[in-house]
Amino acid sequence: MRKIYIFDTTLRDGEQSPGVNLNMQEKVEIALQLEKLGVDRIEAGFPAASPGDLAGVNAVARAVKNATIVGLSRSRTQDIDAVREALKDAQDPCIHLFLASSPIHRKHKLRMEKHQVLEAAEAAIRYAKQYFSKVEFSPEDAGRTELDFLCEVTEMAIRAGATVVNIPDTVGYLTPYEYGNIFKTLKENVNGIEKIQLSAHCHDDLGMATANALAAILNGADQIEGTINGIGERAGNTAIEEVALALETRQDFFQAKTGLVLSEIARTSRLVSKLTGMPVPGNKAIVGANAFAHESGIHQDGMLKEKTTYEIMSPETIGLKESKLTLGKLSGRHAFREKLVDLGYDLGDEQLNTAFGKFKALADKKKNVTDEDILALIEEKLIET
Ligand code: KIV
Ligand code: ZN
Repeated sequence: MRKIYIFDTTLRDGEQSPGVNLNMQEKVEIALQLEKLGVDRIEAGFPAASPGDLAGVNAVARAVKNATIVGLSRSRTQDIDAVREALKDAQDPCIHLFLASSPIHRKHKLRMEKHQVLEAAEAAIRYAKQYFSKVEFSPEDAGRTELDFLCEVTEMAIRAGATVVNIPDTVGYLTPYEYGNIFKTLKENVNGIEKIQLSAHCHDDLGMATANALAAILNGADQIEGTINGIGERAGNTAIEEVALALETRQDFFQAKTGLVLSEIARTSRLVSKLTGMPVPGNKAIVGANAFAHESGIHQDGMLKEKTTYEIMSPETIGLKESKLTLGKLSGRHAFREKLVDLGYDLGDEQLNTAFGKFKALADKKKNVTDEDILALIEEKLIET
């Protein structure tokens, strides 16, 4: 089974979510939980962005022992020096350099020709290489870069000493077919590609970040970059928990696995949501409150007979106790009886019928019928009889 490395950027790209600002203690708390989750690399921040971010990255570098700690840097010496300072205490440091490569960015943002991009990136990689054995290089907006130029940039990065080349779909523009094809093309055409790891970094503007990351894996990516709960700039990044569970649940298809401790996923998701103040939508895959909840009577009946009828993975895998059978107007007698047994009531058929009728009447008026509602209904029923 091929191992896929997980590069977590919750503390960097995730922190770029509008409204999110993590202080040093919060960064360390999340990083320690990411270490428990077993991510391979933690991008702790962008040290040149502010003294506070430099201090935050340094605090993470001192606290975490079992993951590579990464600092982001533009392709300029002041930024690289800031990462050196921030990572001076890291056991296993890595610098992540980036420079845009797409025609749109070259023309409007950088005002640079192709050869200038190649020269600036090469100089930055060579400078960083004097201080870091691990250097990742990202041609920003790789997704909208001419494929032949992307091959040229990748080959330059390898020659200059990069150990990982990351392919960001910075604006979440590509389809899985196109993104997968970039990896295939790089693998087939770039000299020295076998010496480095290829990494995927996707954004979710068109809702394809996870699908694109999986397409990259199918075409030879060694590393996936993403965030917990998929938070990040604009519509967010690839959700790490989605990639991990897709690989786990469909091992037959992907033949690849992460090294994550999957039972830490729910806890990590809750912590990130709490400290970033970003609630997880109920219907969010894997970690949403409804991801293992069943509402309709037909589904609940199936679940009570055999869970695999409606669940392709179990909540225990990600560290949750059990699936939820939510009671509402679509629920059936089978789920209602199970709920009563859970609450300590084993009613005879006649009492059950009457209670079920009352429950349905209540469920027509109220979206979520709680345990307290059911207890009140049963107590009322028992007093009447
Ligand atoms: O999306 C992006 O291009 C990035 C780079 C800095 C890797 O986050
Ligand atoms: Zn990004």
